[in-house]
Amino acid sequence: MTAVVEVGHLTKRFNEVTAVDDVSFAVAEQEFFTLLGSSGCGKTTTLRCVAGLERADAGRIGIGGETVFDAAQGLDVGSERRAIGMVFQSYAVWPHMSVFDNIAYPLRIRRQPREAIRRRVDDVLAILDMAALGRRMPSQLSGGQQQRVALGRALAMNPKVLLLDEPLSNLDAKLRETMRAELKLIQKETGLPILYVTHDQTEALAMSDRIAVMANGVIHQLAPPDAIYRRPATRFVLDFVGAVNYLPCTLEAVLEDALVLRLAEGARLRVPKPPHVPTTSAHELAVRPEDIVLGPPGEGRPAATVTLKSFVGTGFDYRLRLGEVELRVQAPKTAAFAEGEHVGIAITEALLLDARQRGDAARVGP
Ligand SMILES: Nc1ncnc2c1ncn2[C@@H]1O[C@H](COP(=O)(O)OP(=O)(O)O)[C@@H](O)[C@H]1O
Ligand SMILES: [Mg+2]
Repeated sequence: MTAVVEVGHLTKRFNEVTAVDDVSFAVAEQEFFTLLGSSGCGKTTTLRCVAGLERADAGRIGIGGETVFDAAQGLDVGSERRAIGMVFQSYAVWPHMSVFDNIAYPLRIRRQPREAIRRRVDDVLAILDMAALGRRMPSQLSGGQQQRVALGRALAMNPKVLLLDEPLSNLDAKLRETMRAELKLIQKETGLPILYVTHDQTEALAMSDRIAVMANGVIHQLAPPDAIYRRPATRFVLDFVGAVNYLPCTLEAVLEDALVLRLAEGARLRVPKPPHVPTTSAHELAVRPEDIVLGPPGEGRPAATVTLKSFVGTGFDYRLRLGEVELRVQAPKTAAFAEGEHVGIAITEALLLDARQRGDAARVGP
């Protein structure tokens, strides 16, 4: 794996706040790499350090094989000499400039020849599928098109990497989904790696090759989306990415491919064997809403009561009561049950946690 962006042991403090705390990661060629975390966890600060807009207190940053920042050596290459293109949440498209002039701007301030600028802007407009819109003013564009102009300006200088900070968060839900696909297509066409920042876990899961989940300036887990979702490293990742039900239980038997659990309210529950079985007495089963299948009650499939049913188009969202626990279940359209009905629950995938280990940083896996 050749890294285009390398961040090593990056630390950035603002007075007493450590915004970025010993963060390391590398973005490979053509990779879509996402920093995911809630507001204030240090995503933007990390990105601004890579961009050269913020000077870190410790660590090293490499872009395209060249060291652009090294705290120990006092090396700090200026932002304009780092081969990056950037788009921020509040995408600044200049309203008084045409689409063409907006994209040409970074080339003009670097005094590139007129003809070269025209060729490059035409290329970028073609990549953005906006070839016919070069003369338009931003006010004559939709939100999505304006966002593509901002992207175009970032692409103009032929950067080695694109840095995108919540670029879709100002768009409405429908447009956001369209732009996700467009961004991925633009990336395929340009072959550029993307370092992406978002607090939106759905966006991160859908777009990324790998995700670094951050909290309090620290990376909790760095892995592909599937692993983040199904093999979370810590309680924080488990809670933050996707919904989850917790069922207090004790372990009765470990079979070859299944576990038999005793739930707090007394019933037995059989679940597929999870990747890690903690050797403690107090356990907690963590189950995603879509991993609970509803059907007739039976041995190993305890009965729960439907307390709330909502149709969500793709299926039903249920709330169920099982003893003291309220369960959230996502069921397909074919699984229609009435409020008040008793239904059996079967589990298709789950994690078993050590119930004594609490707190965000508690390890969930082996
Ligand atoms: N210029 C600044 N001055 C002081 N504190 C800052 C500054 N920028 C960011 N912070 C603090 O650093 C932490 C991380 O902020 P930020 O990187 O913007 O988080 P995110 O982008 O994940 O929402 C927060 O506690 C924030 O208040
Ligand atoms: Mg931010």
